[in-house]
Amino acid sequence: MARKIIVSNRLPVKIKRTENGMTFEPSEGGLATGLGSVYKEGDNIWIGWPGLYLEEESEEQQVITELQKESMQPVFLTETEIKEYYEGFSNETLWPTFHYFSQFAVYEQDYWEAYLRVNQKFCERIVKVANPDDTIWIHDYQLLLLPSLVRESLPDITIGFFQHIPFPSYEVFRMLPWRKQILQGLLGADLIGFHTYDDVRHFVSSVIHLVGLPASNGVIETGNRSVMVDAFPMGIDFDKYADTAHSEKVAEIEKTFEEALRYRKIVLSIDRLDYSKGIPQRLRAFELFLKQYPEFHEQVTLIMIVVPSRDQVEKYKELKVEVDELVGRINGLYRTLSWAPVQYYYHSFPFEELSAFYRMAHVALVTPMRDGMNLVCKEYLASRTDGTGVLILSEMAGAAKELSEAILINPNDVNQMVGALYQALTAPEDTQRVAIASMMATVQQYNIHHWVKLFMDRLAYTKEKQNELITT
Ligand code: F6P
Repeated sequence: MARKIIVSNRLPVKIKRTENGMTFEPSEGGLATGLGSVYKEGDNIWIGWPGLYLEEESEEQQVITELQKESMQPVFLTETEIKEYYEGFSNETLWPTFHYFSQFAVYEQDYWEAYLRVNQKFCERIVKVANPDDTIWIHDYQLLLLPSLVRESLPDITIGFFQHIPFPSYEVFRMLPWRKQILQGLLGADLIGFHTYDDVRHFVSSVIHLVGLPASNGVIETGNRSVMVDAFPMGIDFDKYADTAHSEKVAEIEKTFEEALRYRKIVLSIDRLDYSKGIPQRLRAFELFLKQYPEFHEQVTLIMIVVPSRDQVEKYKELKVEVDELVGRINGLYRTLSWAPVQYYYHSFPFEELSAFYRMAHVALVTPMRDGMNLVCKEYLASRTDGTGVLILSEMAGAAKELSEAILINPNDVNQMVGALYQALTAPEDTQRVAIASMMATVQQYNIHHWVKLFMDRLAYTKEKQNELITT
């Protein structure tokens, strides 16, 4: 039977060594939380890095056996590969460039070579497990060369690629020394998906300018194949979030949280620690809000959950220091014996506790400087059990294209963010209900299952069209 083989840098679980042997923990980020609930259907498998380095040879088989039970296959990476391919090229070259932080980008030939080698390593794994009628679905910027590598080894196989982060404008993308190889790497796919039409436009424009291939209506002609490019805004597992939020257990957790916070108004912010998320900018806006609106002192608490991420990368280390200092400054200035304006957590939370935070938050403050989609805002909407709440959302998040009833802000405009906070905290309940109902309906309809089906159907259609052309 034809299977889907999902391929991403990281598996949806991380393996950790503990005193009692190896344990699985869920991975952070939109990709893992988004696709985690769909890949187990049928005989599908997920190939990726299990998040640990092998210490002894015997561990290899142990990890393989454990993962196989969960339909996963590992690609083992060495410490040097993680340093150069993951921290280096993926997160010090591509990540800043694709998020319009080119000034942070490092251009290092060794990193590029490691990136190529690791993409080849992933390819070898795929070639070992794939049958000719399987569909390979490759995910994200860590594996941009993989579509062409797989195409070379398995010329007729169906390959889809989806990028979870933005694709920058041609003027930004062209700054990369390896720009042409990257585009050629991607063009091995039959279908290339992005979250928004702007990303599609930027990608197609880069292909036209840098590879010199003709493109029209989202189809790029490579000479021997047509590659389809389109926008597929990713959704969440709506029922999972809504059902959890409606559970008695979560209602009880919420009650405990509310008592501890003395039923104050809650503004919620949840992100991985990343400069693309605009965390310092958000804190500065909250600080200015407290300065301008003293009547909100002791009345509102910002719950800021920051999930540790890429903590070996220099810019992330610097950001951690900046965030720690800002929180210290705000709390130092405004806190009272019974009130901390910012409740800052530098760790992740179990799913049900996160759900309780979403349930109790009067306002969700989602203000990335740049984000491919942002699923946190969708998770908030799915968890609004009583139909109230306000979403403040950055225009720079892909989700802003779908959630236009949110209070949309420019994260560089601190005064606008302050105004949005005031508007959100004083919004009449009926206004809240209208906006939440409409956005919730969107998130419910365009959920993760809809997204997977849309992408997969389009991929099958693209392949069919290609085969028709070959046989006529
Ligand atoms: O959504 C972007 C993304 O980079 C995913 O590819 C990844 O799963 C997630 O963020 C978390 O990043 P990392 O794997 O570097 O922890």
